[in-house]
Amino acid sequence: MSPPTDAQRMEKIVSLCKRRGFIFQSSEIYGGLNGAWDYGPLGVELKRNLKNYWWHVTVHERDDVVGMDGSILTHPAVLQASGHVEGFSDPMVDCRLTGKRFRADQIPTQSGTIFSFQFARDAIPPPESFSALVHIAAPHLQADKSVSLDDALKIALLVNERTNLGLQTPANDPESVLKFFLDLGHKLSTSSDVSVAELGEEFGTNYASNPIVSGDQFRVLIGDSENEAKARKKAKKLAQEFYRKRGLRFPVVDLLSTQPIENTRDFNPENGAELTQPRPFNLMFKTNVGAMEDESSIAYLRPETAQSIFVQFKNILEVSRKKLPFGIAQIGKAFRNEINPRNFTFRSREFEQMEIEYFCRADQGMELLEYWKEERLRFYENIGIPRSKLHVLTVPDDERAFYSKGTYDIEYDFPFGRQELEGVAYRTDYDLSQHQKASGKSLEYFDEETKQRFVPHVVEPSAGVDRTVLALICEAYSEDQAPDEKGKMETRIVLRFQPRIAPVKCGVFPLLKNNSQLVAKAKEIVSLLRPDMTVFYDESGAIGRRYRRQDEIGTPFGVTVDFETLGEKDPGLRDTVTLRDRDSMKQERVAIQNLPAMLRERIG
Ligand code: GAP
Repeated sequence: MSPPTDAQRMEKIVSLCKRRGFIFQSSEIYGGLNGAWDYGPLGVELKRNLKNYWWHVTVHERDDVVGMDGSILTHPAVLQASGHVEGFSDPMVDCRLTGKRFRADQIPTQSGTIFSFQFARDAIPPPESFSALVHIAAPHLQADKSVSLDDALKIALLVNERTNLGLQTPANDPESVLKFFLDLGHKLSTSSDVSVAELGEEFGTNYASNPIVSGDQFRVLIGDSENEAKARKKAKKLAQEFYRKRGLRFPVVDLLSTQPIENTRDFNPENGAELTQPRPFNLMFKTNVGAMEDESSIAYLRPETAQSIFVQFKNILEVSRKKLPFGIAQIGKAFRNEINPRNFTFRSREFEQMEIEYFCRADQGMELLEYWKEERLRFYENIGIPRSKLHVLTVPDDERAFYSKGTYDIEYDFPFGRQELEGVAYRTDYDLSQHQKASGKSLEYFDEETKQRFVPHVVEPSAGVDRTVLALICEAYSEDQAPDEKGKMETRIVLRFQPRIAPVKCGVFPLLKNNSQLVAKAKEIVSLLRPDMTVFYDESGAIGRRYRRQDEIGTPFGVTVDFETLGEKDPGLRDTVTLRDRDSMKQERVAIQNLPAMLRERIG
């Protein structure tokens, strides 16, 4: 069972990311671009550390994987052959009230009562009928094209007064206003003043028979928790809003029926309004290449890095002279016009992938699927995501792509729920066969030993950079108690990053900023460590505060230069510093000359 979600924790993480410069909303000063994110000074370091480590273990440490870096702009033929042009879509539904778009498969089932409205009429008289009324009140005036409710009532009450009809001012709801105008027409038509009666008749008949109407049907779901009267009121309010958006300014709605329902997905879970029928929505971003904007110039921003690997398979095979099984790895941007970007960077429209296409013989596919699943789990553990927070979902037969013989999703327990980090799929020979067929170029492999020619099969571990960065931050975030300057315990926010991926590895602090010897020594240490790691020099504020600032960004080590470093108290301690560990907050005395090797070893 997945652990409960923790919205408060997630809020704190998002706020920390902005406050400390990990992740900002894209185009923030212009209101933000939904689904796009900018990584700040620390975020970019974290992201690079992740990508570099992935590249290192996937490409540099292996003989059987080579890298590539393909273009983002993709020829439509590639994505036609891969099936993306035809089928890379999500079923989409729109809220009929707000227009908000949802993925149909993400709508939760709901139960309650459906209120069906079949049409509505406007209680405000249309100008044609209203002109007769205006004529009674003030014969020199012309009826406005679209009179407001206030003006309509003002005129009507003036008529009421002038002709002594004795009607009461209606309540401020469409039904009362409708009744008021109907009564007004009726009473005026029976006036003893013939001209008033004629105009009243004209107004009344027109108002009753030619209202502004909307024949759109509209349904609302109200949950069982509401009592009947409240449910009706709520449904009516939504329906009025719906018809207002269709041009009726003060709609009187017509409730046709009510009907209990269970487990429906037809309604907006946020407001109960009816959703449209699902329609496929292609997630690819289309653009035009060159000066012409027509069919011939269409290109797509790639929706995954994988396709350029398949398309370059033959070239890379030839130049690398690899034998099966072997892989091609790539890290790069991918773009999907997601219907609902959400959960911070988790589902974005622009994101990065780290993908391996590992080519093999058909009989090796299932075994390699298991192998890569285990390799990838080990990778996550090595960057600080414990096995207990990772879950392997075997994608069931009916949810797997038709060409895949086995797919695993590696999931992580995010504060917003258990969600996919990476997919590991055995895709058979589908991709290469499709491109071979569509391009007319052979993508076969010639096996020197067996003298056989065949299209290789492929196992694909496909990970998301941004999702992994988010998982790393979520995993690292913690709060504990630590003493402040005066020894009083306070809450400490600390990112417990695995040192290997921490954006800054070591903070260096002179105890006092106005002591030139301490400062000079601290700067010497910065120069000593910099060739091996990212270092942050900080001389401002009390030392405890400086530690806290580094804890909050996940710096695993802190070096403090004090008077002992200068040999003032004990000559034996000259050129030693305190080395503080972020997690245990323990300090040890270390010789400066030993620092680089010691830290290198601890960073891993
Ligand atoms: N080539 C296979 C492929 O692209 P996928 O499951 O669609 O498979 C692989 O994507 C990984 O890419 C996901 O597990 C996820 O980590 C990342 N990813 C996919 N869509 C994403 C999005 N909209 N935002 C962030 N990451 C995404």
